[in-house]
Amino acid sequence: MRTLGPVSFVDAERQRLDVELGERSYPIFIGRHLLSDPACYRPYIVGERVMIVSNETVAPLYLDALRAGLKGFEIDQVILPDGERYKDLATLNCIFDALLERRCGRDVTVVALGGGVVGDMAGFAAACYQRGVPFIQVPTTLLAQVDSSVGGKTGVNHPAGKNMIGAFHQPRAVIADTATLETLPERELSAGLAEVIKYGLISDRPFFDWLEDQVPALRALDPAALATAIARSCENKALIVAADERESGQRALLNLGHSFGHAIEAGTGYGTWLHGEAVGVGLVMAAQLSERLGWLEPADTARIQDVVALAGLPIVPPDSLPSERWLELMAVDKKVQRGRLRLVLLQGIGEALLTADIDAGQLQATIAAAQGATA
Ligand SMILES: NC(=O)c1ccc[n+]([C@@H]2O[C@H](COP(=O)([O-])OP(=O)(O)OC[C@H]3O[C@@H](n4cnc5c(N)ncnc54)[C@H](O)[C@@H]3O)[C@@H](O)[C@H]2O)c1
Ligand SMILES: [Zn+2]
Repeated sequence: MRTLGPVSFVDAERQRLDVELGERSYPIFIGRHLLSDPACYRPYIVGERVMIVSNETVAPLYLDALRAGLKGFEIDQVILPDGERYKDLATLNCIFDALLERRCGRDVTVVALGGGVVGDMAGFAAACYQRGVPFIQVPTTLLAQVDSSVGGKTGVNHPAGKNMIGAFHQPRAVIADTATLETLPERELSAGLAEVIKYGLISDRPFFDWLEDQVPALRALDPAALATAIARSCENKALIVAADERESGQRALLNLGHSFGHAIEAGTGYGTWLHGEAVGVGLVMAAQLSERLGWLEPADTARIQDVVALAGLPIVPPDSLPSERWLELMAVDKKVQRGRLRLVLLQGIGEALLTADIDAGQLQATIAAAQGATA
């Protein structure tokens, strides 16, 4: 097992860790009130111009603070409508329109201020504009701070599938200001915690143990607990991404709980369940299937279920989804290779593995049992 090194502390207020990707390496800063600190941005902006991309919910809350941090640069902005349903090519075009109207050249730096939707779109726009310009992520949801802002996946949805059009484009820096989480709806915070728990389950048992104790502090937005959880999550993701930047192997482990989760999201209609809520149940179901295969102790399944519930997440799937529909939805999931369903399962807490040897009967029994718990 690889081990995690300590996160480097810049000072009491902030932490820095580095995603090691050769010449595409970049720092992640985590702490309170980083948003308006020029030191977080200045070294990572090459030219004189920045284009801030945000949305109509986040901009009124944090745009002024970000602009203060970017003082001295020539700043333009584009404010998108809020919502996953706008994560499409038409809305993406608004970013290109703004860049072109303002006659931005290749020396512009795109700055994404918002959750994962804004980050994915701004990053994709930066990947495409004039064949690629630099960008900086300023994530303002827990999910974006621990997941979507790290790793370089960018893109938009197509009516035929989520995130189907996109590019790998690494940010120059990620600035996660934990104070922004104070305005985040509680449900969104819980959704982000699903991904945090996921990292513990994949490869970091001590982190999982810590979470069992600290989830209430995280939900209460305790600054030290938040900084630790975000840093540790990013460190876990960064290690996996550094080992497999373009998802040919190990990166697939990050999909723990996601095949089940995607089936719930798609089966109930996107937007009914938050992604993180579906992943929370997905983690529980992955544990249940692992237990059914004899890989995981029942006591560990119970611990996983308890911590997911403690995070304010659902632990049983909707009963409205018939079992054939589950299998259908899981089979269209992109983890299908050569017709075989590949799933990430657990051999223990902190020991995830990708397997192609899934017995459809065991999978069906797991779904039926989980749904039985709903009734
Ligand atoms: N690129 C990746 O690797 C990756 C990984 C995971 C998820 N994603 C993508 O991320 C998206 C989900 O991201 P998300 O969960 O951040 O959703 P989101 O961006 O839709 O944000 C959730 C809601 O919170 C609002 N919000 C954001 N910050 C706020 C704040 N500080 N205070 C108050 N409200 C705030 C947003 O406007 C939105 O209404 C999905 O599109 C998903 O595909 C990408
Ligand atoms: Zn996810």
